[in-house]
Amino acid sequence: MTNPTPPPARRALGSSGLTVPPLAYGCWRFAGSSVDEARARIETAIGAGLDLIDTADIYGFGGAGFGAAEELLGAVLRADPGLRDAMVLATKGGIRPPVPYDSSAPSLRAAIDASRRRLGVDVIDLWQVHRPDVLTHPAEVAETLVWAVTSGAVRTVGVSNYTPPQYEALRVHLAGTPVRLVSTQPEVHALALAAVDDGVLDLAVRDDLVPLAWSPLAGGRLGDGVVAADAREAAVHAALDDIAARETTTRSAVALAWIMFHPSRPVPIVGSNRPDRIRAAADALRVSLDRTDWYAVARAAGRPQP
Ligand SMILES: NC(=O)c1ccc[n+]([C@@H]2O[C@H](COP(=O)([O-])OP(=O)(O)OC[C@H]3O[C@@H](n4cnc5c(N)ncnc54)[C@H](OP(=O)(O)O)[C@@H]3O)[C@@H](O)[C@H]2O)c1
Repeated sequence: MTNPTPPPARRALGSSGLTVPPLAYGCWRFAGSSVDEARARIETAIGAGLDLIDTADIYGFGGAGFGAAEELLGAVLRADPGLRDAMVLATKGGIRPPVPYDSSAPSLRAAIDASRRRLGVDVIDLWQVHRPDVLTHPAEVAETLVWAVTSGAVRTVGVSNYTPPQYEALRVHLAGTPVRLVSTQPEVHALALAAVDDGVLDLAVRDDLVPLAWSPLAGGRLGDGVVAADAREAAVHAALDDIAARETTTRSAVALAWIMFHPSRPVPIVGSNRPDRIRAAADALRVSLDRTDWYAVARAAGRPQP
């Protein structure tokens, strides 16, 4: 009944020399606020140890506009240049409305250059293909990723929302090059268990990828004080709340700790815009789970457990 995973700690991001923390901060909901508000969130995240900052070129689309989240983060970095070296800066590209996906070489090269301009940085620490474009041959994506790293535009590369076969196809085309994938970014939380069973997290274990877990509170549905929308959510809330009472913490902290318990050591990307909640997310590091707890939450979510 002991915890099979090591306690949350920093880990290497491939062979880049960079290390990443057990919790990250994400900028999907970031655009549309003032530079001061945005700066407070980034400073709070870094201060709480959430110093992997994940954004994307498309964040802001539908609201403040395509590129707006990167531009705002760029403005924060201009306001406080010391923040750049205090973070691992991750972004993504490859979604191009209204196409919607384009991983062709010209598209990804342009996306990487545009992200660097908006962020105001020479080099992006981790650049990720945001979603697979099934119309681009993986050999072409591999070639672009090799260009991105060898040109010095990015330090490391990863994928997001790739199925295991899509990941394998790209990995094969990177074999023999100086570049390897260092991360994968699936949706992972107690209401979205696909990555646990479809091989995404197993491949992360095999290849020592950092799994970045997106929407770790199910977009807020596993948040504190949130009322369940259906019986499944109610069951998951009850399972998380039982553990939270025992651990004298919150439902959201347990929800994050539950993700981190998997042996692939997923890094939940905290998405709150509120500094108090960003700070409180670090409570997840103090939650002590065992395998009975993990399976109880999975069972409450309806995961088959014969
Ligand atoms: N790769 C992809 O395709 C993909 C897709 C989606 C997201 N992402 C990444 O994942 C990150 C996080 O996603 P997300 O924003 O959906 O994360 P999330 O944490 O699942 O959801 C955030 C939402 O929950 C609310 N919330 C946060 N903490 C709460 C708490 N303790 N109690 C109650 N409500 C709470 C937030 O509201 P407040 O702001 O008011 O706290 C916000 O509306 C993104 O920023 C992005 O980096 C990646």
